[in-house]
Amino acid sequence: MAESLLELLQRSCPITLPMHMPGHKRNLDLAPYLKTLAAQLDITEIKGFDHLHAAGGILQDAMNLAAHVFGANHTFFLVNGSTVGVLSAIRSVTQPGDSIIMARNCHKSVYNALALNNLRPYFIYPQTNLRYQIAASTSLQSVEQAILQHQDARVLMLTCPTYEGVVSDLPAIISLAHRHGLTVIIDEAHGSHLGFSPYFPSGAVKAGADIVIQSLHKTMPSLTQTALAHVRTPALANEMQRQLAVFETTSPSFLLLASIDSCVRLIQKHHDELFTAWHKALEAFHEKALGLRLLRVLGYGKERGLKLENVHGLEPSKVFISTIDTNIDGYELAEILRDRFHTEPEMISPQGVLCMTGMGDTVDTMTFLGDALLEIDRGLSPAVVSKVPLMAPQVQAKVSIARAERAPFICLPIEEADGYAVAETIVVYPPGIPVVVPGEVMNRQAISYLLAAKAAHNTILRSRSDVDGEVAVLRDA
Ligand SMILES: Cc1ncc(COP(=O)(O)O)c(C=O)c1O
Repeated sequence: MAESLLELLQRSCPITLPMHMPGHKRNLDLAPYLKTLAAQLDITEIKGFDHLHAAGGILQDAMNLAAHVFGANHTFFLVNGSTVGVLSAIRSVTQPGDSIIMARNCHKSVYNALALNNLRPYFIYPQTNLRYQIAASTSLQSVEQAILQHQDARVLMLTCPTYEGVVSDLPAIISLAHRHGLTVIIDEAHGSHLGFSPYFPSGAVKAGADIVIQSLHKTMPSLTQTALAHVRTPALANEMQRQLAVFETTSPSFLLLASIDSCVRLIQKHHDELFTAWHKALEAFHEKALGLRLLRVLGYGKERGLKLENVHGLEPSKVFISTIDTNIDGYELAEILRDRFHTEPEMISPQGVLCMTGMGDTVDTMTFLGDALLEIDRGLSPAVVSKVPLMAPQVQAKVSIARAERAPFICLPIEEADGYAVAETIVVYPPGIPVVVPGEVMNRQAISYLLAAKAAHNTILRSRSDVDGEVAVLRDA
């Protein structure tokens, strides 16, 4: 009989160094509650345990404590990840048909929220950084331009930090948006650890965002799917609560809720020592990275302190290793890390590998990663992996996302799609920004960009078509 999922987990986890989520990194010494959370404590909403969607007892007390620890006015525990927070936040602050200004590199949950609520997006294209081939910061100027150009929009939605750890100037952006009367939602899924230590940037709650969504599980010691939503005003909090009841399960896991509460309490009690230990672990990695010849690590080793084009700042929990100057690509680097060092990265692209650190990492795990990279680096020779232009050409929408996403479609070879409204989202990594979303019209420049990305073996993710080289277009538009 084929191996079961449980057997595979039991076989693989003990021998693999996780350089991916969740942030607890299976470090049970750091967070002993994670060992305790199992079926013997698995209940549903019974007397004495409160109701997540109408909290007034122990869950409300726990959420109040979390608000205090994270410096927020109101905090909600989420058990369906940041995804449910993003869907609920956007629905809390918009009416069907509204317009919203958003970064083009937002997570797919934001695009799903557009479709669900029939919203009209005005996109801000983030800058890019050629040296690392990644999406860079969202500039204050681009936000200002979008606000002045689209005065019907009442909401601004941005992602900060990015997957690779790039941050934007949130205090300036948020105060600008507030001066123009916009409500600001920040997807801080990758930044629940921000604001607790000067080693990391200070985060979106402090910068004054109206709603901030954080995946606790991505970087902090809490189980997968656990997240937080922080809300600034009571009126928004009431609406958020109503919308969470729409999108989130009616059977929240008390194991997940207890994981969130325990994580919050751990941070409250020990934040200084926990963040100092994480800082030390990352600095141990930095010392190793100084010895790299050809592999480059964003913000580490000889790259530290470099002025990076279009990058306002970095948050150091992300270790993005670029293979651009070497004779291997990111896929090959990931294979070597797996095969020779039992190390599993978070994300791989032709241009590099993203290792995610978390509070569960230690000087030992980060030294191990640094030594592994040094050993790999010694065997590499210089070369340049081919680069595709980073920023996709802009395209115009003809049909709303809500309509296009569900309308009948046909698939065409990409080369023949000029002038057709597409029925799917196509994302190219790097830099991980959609080239087209449903309802937008394919043009010659977008076709050339996709063909170049394909020829360079960049990762191309499509939401509907499943034949390589094709694109789903609307049958009747
Ligand atoms: C920027 C961003 N926002 C939101 C999410 C969704 O988070 P979750 O997986 O906790 O639902 C992700 C997930 O990777 C993400 O990268």
